[in-house]
Amino acid sequence: MIEWNEKFSVGYKVFDEQHIKLIEILNDVEFLIKDKSIHNDLLYDRLNVLFSELVDYTVYHFETEEKVFDQKSYPLAEEHKELHRIFVENVKEKLSGFKLGKDERKVALEIYNMLLDWLMNHIVGSDKKYMGKLD
Ligand SMILES: [Fe+2]
Repeated sequence: MIEWNEKFSVGYKVFDEQHIKLIEILNDVEFLIKDKSIHNDLLYDRLNVLFSELVDYTVYHFETEEKVFDQKSYPLAEEHKELHRIFVENVKEKLSGFKLGKDERKVALEIYNMLLDWLMNHIVGSDKKYMGKLD
């Protein structure tokens, strides 16, 4: 379970709030994976719901950021957009391997770890670079 704190702040309330929402969905995913009492079929269905929610919200969040980059003529906009694009592509590819009856828990954990690593690194790495530059 990850808890958002000030060290993740990118300096803009709207983006911080969206990051918090992404972290909340990730925590729900982790909670489900660790719930040993849940049957695989149900686990699979619930994780699918959460994964699509995560992808949809991530895309929405990236669009929000990118719109502001364009409005403010942010110099690193293009390289940042490219990171977003590659990430969405990778996530979708990874999710296509999430199939019922095929090591759901193991695959879900891999997807979860990938999402977690990428998002946390992206927030403290790339997102923090726009701090103070989008005013
Ligand atoms: Fe970003």
